Amino acid sequence: MRARTTRLAGIALAAGLGLASLAACGSSDNSSSNSGSTSGAAAGGGKKIALLLPESKTTRYETFDKPYFEEALKAACPDCTLIYSNANQDAAKQQQQAESALTQGANVLVLDPVDGKAAASVVASAKSSNVPVIAYDRFIEGANFYVSFDNAAVGKLQATTLVDVMKKNGKTSGDIVMINGSPTDPNAADFKAGAHSVIDSSGFKVAAEYDTPDWSPDKAQSWMEGQISAVKANLTGVYAANDGTAGGAIAALKGGGVNPLPPVTGQDAELAAIQRILVGDQAMTVYKPIKPEAEAAAKAAVALANGQTPEKTTDFKGVPATILDPIAVVKDNVKDTVVKDGIYQVSEICTGEVAAACTEAGIS
Ligand code: GAL
Repeated sequence: MRARTTRLAGIALAAGLGLASLAACGSSDNSSSNSGSTSGAAAGGGKKIALLLPESKTTRYETFDKPYFEEALKAACPDCTLIYSNANQDAAKQQQQAESALTQGANVLVLDPVDGKAAASVVASAKSSNVPVIAYDRFIEGANFYVSFDNAAVGKLQATTLVDVMKKNGKTSGDIVMINGSPTDPNAADFKAGAHSVIDSSGFKVAAEYDTPDWSPDKAQSWMEGQISAVKANLTGVYAANDGTAGGAIAALKGGGVNPLPPVTGQDAELAAIQRILVGDQAMTVYKPIKPEAEAAAKAAVALANGQTPEKTTDFKGVPATILDPIAVVKDNVKDTVVKDGIYQVSEICTGEVAAACTEAGIS
């Protein structure tokens, strides 16, 4: 990940706004301890773009979305200013962060909502100030633009891979448990619906299902722990909606003495998940290349800030949109996906007990 250490401008925000920060494009400083300039205006009078991300337990946001967005914004508009915040799964905090961005004169909000429905009030308040809103990754009704992946396709990829692996394990029937995402995340509903569209006609039965509050890996783990004695005998697979919940489920299964582990799905191609896939603890993940997603959002933000119409590939629920394709990752294509795209270095993946698995998978 590229990092620029020179701070071009920065302003500390009021306490209580979490990781909120305002900095000229190119600065990657998001701490609230910025000092120095009291003016957030970029040189040349460029526009102010606010990026509001939902959480930091899922590694994508701080590791990929934020820096890729920052980089793309700098390329598309060198004198634009980025106002950045992360709500740490708190919808009320995100609302404050959005209000704060509007108060600071944001020209566009790029919002990945903690709570898709609650975000409607942010859109209303932005609209009353004539500020367009881009729904980033998660859909928001009434947004001016939407950038995401095909989320139903994510669920279908997860479930199709799960069913294939269970069949390869010699099973044609048996129980699946489903650990879905957060009930406030509209994507979670799409992942779940996409997965059900495959599982429900697969011959396998959903024995128990859980919507994980806040996508919390800990809550996924405790729920799975509570299910083990009831489902253990006939458990053939675990649908986990992302890599965080997959990690929780796998810890619970191991702790509960389930051996061999049933295949477990995931999403986000997190480093820990790629390692679990290589050593055989997790069956798959879904790789969603964040760079093109962040680039599409940054370009759309600059267009909207200048009163132009962003380039779209489609319409989604009446909102002009760019929708990208997700990719399933299993042991056999780790090399041709996340390694080839330089998402992780081989040296980051192939540590400790993973080294032998890397050699076996031809990753060196
Ligand atoms: C979804 C997002 C996923 C995953 C999850 C947990 O909305 O599309 O990539 O990160 O949230 O935050």
